[in-house]
Amino acid sequence: MNSNTALKLGDLILPNNILYAPLAGFTDLAFRRIAKQFKPGLMFCEMVKIEALIRGIDNTLDMLEYDEDMHPIGAQICGSNPKLSKECAKIIEDKGFDIIDFNCGCPVNKVIKDGSGSAMLKTPELIGEILSEIISGVKIPVSVKVRIGWDFNSINILDIVQIAEKAGAAAITIHGRTRSQGYSGPSNWEYIKESKKIAKKIKVIGNGGLFEPLDIEKMFKETNCDGVMVARGALQKPWIAKEWESYCLNKQEGFFIDKKALFLEHLHYTQMICHERQVLLEMKKIAASYLKNLKDIKHLRIAIMNSSSTEDVFSAVNNFNWA
Ligand SMILES: Cc1cc2nc3c(=O)[nH]c(=O)nc-3n(C[C@H](O)[C@H](O)[C@H](O)COP(=O)(O)O)c2cc1C
Repeated sequence: MNSNTALKLGDLILPNNILYAPLAGFTDLAFRRIAKQFKPGLMFCEMVKIEALIRGIDNTLDMLEYDEDMHPIGAQICGSNPKLSKECAKIIEDKGFDIIDFNCGCPVNKVIKDGSGSAMLKTPELIGEILSEIISGVKIPVSVKVRIGWDFNSINILDIVQIAEKAGAAAITIHGRTRSQGYSGPSNWEYIKESKKIAKKIKVIGNGGLFEPLDIEKMFKETNCDGVMVARGALQKPWIAKEWESYCLNKQEGFFIDKKALFLEHLHYTQMICHERQVLLEMKKIAASYLKNLKDIKHLRIAIMNSSSTEDVFSAVNNFNWA
């Protein structure tokens, strides 16, 4: 089993093979400041559009902010125009990122309407062309994140693995669902296993349905993948990389985490980057993620929903029974 080992992607050596996924609307600077202390092998900023980055749209540049102690750190780009991809990749490299990932999995309509995201699965040759463009423009490693196919009638993951390998990608992250599955239903890990069998040099990262250390263990065992990418599981447990490390050492489940302290820290980081109204919205989102299993959490959620200032959130947190 390939668990909890360093992972080499091109010249980049990740300290471990538990990667945290890019999650639009979630893996912002505040989340990454929280997550980095649990030492995932690699973290990503939120996905940015190639065109938006080239045009230098402010909000896009903000999304690529990171702290020096977040290395190794990746940027993920999304688009379908090969002519712009090289220039975009160069901007990312110049910003000091360690790896560039090309998104071919995003299912949302406003992304796929111009052939980007998961719509790329319908044009696998274009995936190869864009990867070649990106790779020719930078020295850092390049990876691609895909789904197994558009729908169950058009599963083409094995072709895509070969195309990405031929283009020179260092890794391919495979979300084991089709585009038509969205984010529900089983993640079909058997395709990750088959992909690993045919991969020669390209590293295969398994993704989809990883929420607990036991899931990670199962993914490694069943697919023989080189690494895993945790997505919603990292929102529910930003500490999952550390929990996995401890699970590997003693095979015990359960991991103590001071959720109150973590939430207050998250509030502090969110205040640093957002206006007050946005802070309230963000804290509501977070209360629904890694606090959601706390006893009586609905009381805290309601108190946060009724908050009209950050001070109200602080007092709601302090009045909540965290025991
Ligand atoms: C809210 C949300 C935002 C996401 N944003 C991105 C993204 O920006 N880039 C990406 O490659 N995948 C994105 N994904 C997909 C995840 O990275 C991952 O592939 C998917 O959730 C499957 O893993 P899971 O079942 O373990 O959550 C997103 C998923 C969710 C739920």
